[in-house]
Amino acid sequence: MKDSLPTPFERTFFLTYTQPTVLDSVYTIGLGNNDLKTRSDSNGNRVKFWEAQAAKLYWFEKWHTALDWNPPFARWFVGGKTNASYNALDVTVQKTPNKKAIIWEGEDGKKRELTYQELLSEVSKLANALKSLGVQKGDRVTVYLPMIPELIVALLACARIGVIHTVIFSGFSAKSIKDRVEDSKSKIIITSDGGLRRGNIIKLKDVVDEAIQDLDFVENVIVLEHTKNPITLTKRDKKWHELVGTISSSCDAEILDSTHPLYILYTSGTTGKPKGVLHGTGGYLTHVYSTFQWIFDIKDSDVYFCTADIGWVTGHSYVVYGPLMHGATQIMYEGALDFPTPGRIWEMISRYKVTILYTTPTALRMFMKFGDDLPNSNDLSSLRLLGTVGEPINPQVWKWYFGIIGKGRCPIVDTWWQTETGGALISPVPGLETIPLKPGSATRPVPGVSLSVVDEHGKQVEPDSKGYLVVTNPWPGMLLTLWGDDEKYKTVYWSKYKNMYYPGDYAIQDKDGYIWMLGRADDVLKVAGHRLGTAELESAFVSNKAVAEAAVCGIPHDVKGEAIISFVVLKDGVIPTSQLKEELVNHIKKTIGPIAAPDQLHFVKKLPKTRSGKIMRRLLKAMAKNEQIGDISTLEDEASVNEIKTAFAELKQSLGKF
Ligand code: WTA
Repeated sequence: MKDSLPTPFERTFFLTYTQPTVLDSVYTIGLGNNDLKTRSDSNGNRVKFWEAQAAKLYWFEKWHTALDWNPPFARWFVGGKTNASYNALDVTVQKTPNKKAIIWEGEDGKKRELTYQELLSEVSKLANALKSLGVQKGDRVTVYLPMIPELIVALLACARIGVIHTVIFSGFSAKSIKDRVEDSKSKIIITSDGGLRRGNIIKLKDVVDEAIQDLDFVENVIVLEHTKNPITLTKRDKKWHELVGTISSSCDAEILDSTHPLYILYTSGTTGKPKGVLHGTGGYLTHVYSTFQWIFDIKDSDVYFCTADIGWVTGHSYVVYGPLMHGATQIMYEGALDFPTPGRIWEMISRYKVTILYTTPTALRMFMKFGDDLPNSNDLSSLRLLGTVGEPINPQVWKWYFGIIGKGRCPIVDTWWQTETGGALISPVPGLETIPLKPGSATRPVPGVSLSVVDEHGKQVEPDSKGYLVVTNPWPGMLLTLWGDDEKYKTVYWSKYKNMYYPGDYAIQDKDGYIWMLGRADDVLKVAGHRLGTAELESAFVSNKAVAEAAVCGIPHDVKGEAIISFVVLKDGVIPTSQLKEELVNHIKKTIGPIAAPDQLHFVKKLPKTRSGKIMRRLLKAMAKNEQIGDISTLEDEASVNEIKTAFAELKQSLGKF
């Protein structure tokens, strides 16, 4: 693979490449054109460092306290007054109102463009419409929309008037929506008649109707006409276009405290119910503004394309707030990246002369499978920077991205972060400094963040040894808490180690200080970059009347990263049939969403458990991967080898039966 790579060469603008000399496959990037002189500026007084970054945003009033740290609760820029929508829109409108904000393309080829001025006007209209429906500062509004400009409009309209937005990915099912809307007590839901995916219309409004039929506290559903499929309107439904038809296109941005909540985003953890991650305003914006600039080295002339859906945190931080706060022009796409042709993404990059591409390892693995001819037959010469997020990237895929897509000219920024961290915490920062890249490592923490890799007792492990990643100082993008559950916030993230944030990932720090992420250390799966809890999947199974018990695990998958394997124990008297298997897969799709459909479903007589009743998940994994008992006999701490052997044999026997 290495031999087929083009030789890195010098590009004078903003990125300097040097020949790999010391280490195999090391690529050096970055020039450091930012005003932060050296990384060491950020290591001394971190709070002061972040204050200097916050000062680049627009504030109605400056803060009096940069950080109020009452572990584990951090409040950033206390006393400061700001507004996310003002920073994302007005700041650019005052300078370059006609700058293109969004160039949108639909799966069916439709195109739309919005300037910053136009976006501000749409946002203001919807903000006024929300006010006319009685929505007030601090209320929650759920947004369930496909990847269309109105999704951005909806978020910024909420932010403009101090309403907390909570987006639900448009691939989630009615039951998932119901749980989230119930938890956030959203008064209003914003949706559309439908969305396009692989040539099909997903009937979003129908899903919302099913989700909220018993939820009386939902006062209104705002429905956007997008796909024009027939829908039924009830008394509480309002048509978006009618609502904004005659309304004023000017709406002052609410002057909000820096610590005012900006959004809730639900994410999976180790419990059956998703957690409502709550982000604030001033700290979050500072983190996203800074990292977007450092990592993507954004220029006025750039055409930025992030393929993430706004239903996930990457879309919140690096489609909505990051690019817009910098007045960037971006491509927004509704649909599958390989539809109707597998080369769709490369055609779009060539069509719009995209300069920065930010995508996932799952997408890259899929593109790689399609072969090199597709990217090679499109003009990708506009690209200058490539990014990846969401899962560890295999070095082979990294090299393919670098060689075939970037033609050896474009550095890769591998960004590690989480819904909870708000923005990237580990990444190369080409807008700031030069660093040799190593394929598969996200390199080092971003400035102002300090990390460590520790053992079970919180002691730093030796270089090149596996441990748990921890964050050792508060950072501005960190979550405020979990919505309505401070206790859970403390337990999930801050109880494993004292005063250290525990993200739940395994990592290795090598001798050069580079961090290599090794995947989740808890019962959370990453399937095609989507975060799913095994407990969430298991409780979805058990909610079916045929199921007595279920256990789920993930095994490596060459495209999706992880595949979902499920083991199901049926209730007495229920006959295991292939039809029932299909029914259960559909049940999961309906309860969580199509992204959660298991790749394998096995009926078993009983689940292998330790004496204390814990499911031997690694044994299930070994079984699914067809490994031998010898490979796993040391893995289950609480069980004896004999117990494992018996459980394994029983499992195998019952597997063969169905
Ligand atoms: C994983 C996505 C390796 C990790 C922004 C983390 C990564 C979880 C990377 C958070 C990366 C994210 N390399 N692993 N560059 N980025 N992860 O909340 O396990 O959907 O804990 O946020 O994704 O997933 P989430």
